[in-house]
Amino acid sequence: MIILKSPSEIEKMRISNTIVAEILSEIKALIKPGVTTIELNERCEWLCHKKGAIPAFKGYRGYPCSLCTSVNEEVVHGIPSKRILKEGDIISLDFGVLYDGYFGDAAITVPVGVVSEKAALLIETTEQALYLGIEKAIHNNRISDISFAVQRHVESRGFSVVRKFVGHGIGKSLHEDPQIPNFGKPGQGPRLKPGMVLAIEPMVNAGRSEVEVLSDGWTAVTKDRSLSAHFEHCIAITENGAEILSKI
Ligand code: MF3
Ligand code: CO
Repeated sequence: MIILKSPSEIEKMRISNTIVAEILSEIKALIKPGVTTIELNERCEWLCHKKGAIPAFKGYRGYPCSLCTSVNEEVVHGIPSKRILKEGDIISLDFGVLYDGYFGDAAITVPVGVVSEKAALLIETTEQALYLGIEKAIHNNRISDISFAVQRHVESRGFSVVRKFVGHGIGKSLHEDPQIPNFGKPGQGPRLKPGMVLAIEPMVNAGRSEVEVLSDGWTAVTKDRSLSAHFEHCIAITENGAEILSKI
């Protein structure tokens, strides 16, 4: 069941998502060779506390941290550790909060210093795919119109979309209906209506689309160990198109 949000609920979700976006941009500014991923998580928790928000991922199904830090071939759900970032790495930062009863959720992928041309193109393509998907998130379109736009752009660059993880509705719960795959034929699935709030989150691999989960039970990596990137925004469907809630 898709839960529609009232204008005042959307206002609250604008606030939760703005907190997420602000914290992500502060964490992004810290990304450089020599930094450990656990330091990023600690900073993230401190900022979250300062803003009076509750980290959404910590304890979610037993996830141990507040931030997901997925490096290079790690697709999503990388657990912060003493791992030291080095020049040429790419890192996906996925973060969510609960504030005033509503969730916010967003992700970005950031280069560590100077990265290969392929890594830079992967990051650029994934972010473009997110924005192309968002452009299709309009009243009377269907969910898979978003999916199709994402997949078409990614594959036009010779990359692949991850099928195992999908975007989602969001509100008083972190994950609500509908699911939003990053692949599929257009014109399928529920029709988009004003009041829907969606987390659209393409995960894109430089090589093949298959992923596997490491023995820590969380870290998803590409099966072929090719690089992977991830961008996510929460958007609200309005009468005049999609409003990005998780922008700064
Ligand atoms: N942004 C992700 C999601 O939407 C991260 C949540 S996974 C967690 O679904 F378990 F770490 F919380
Ligand atoms: Co999400």
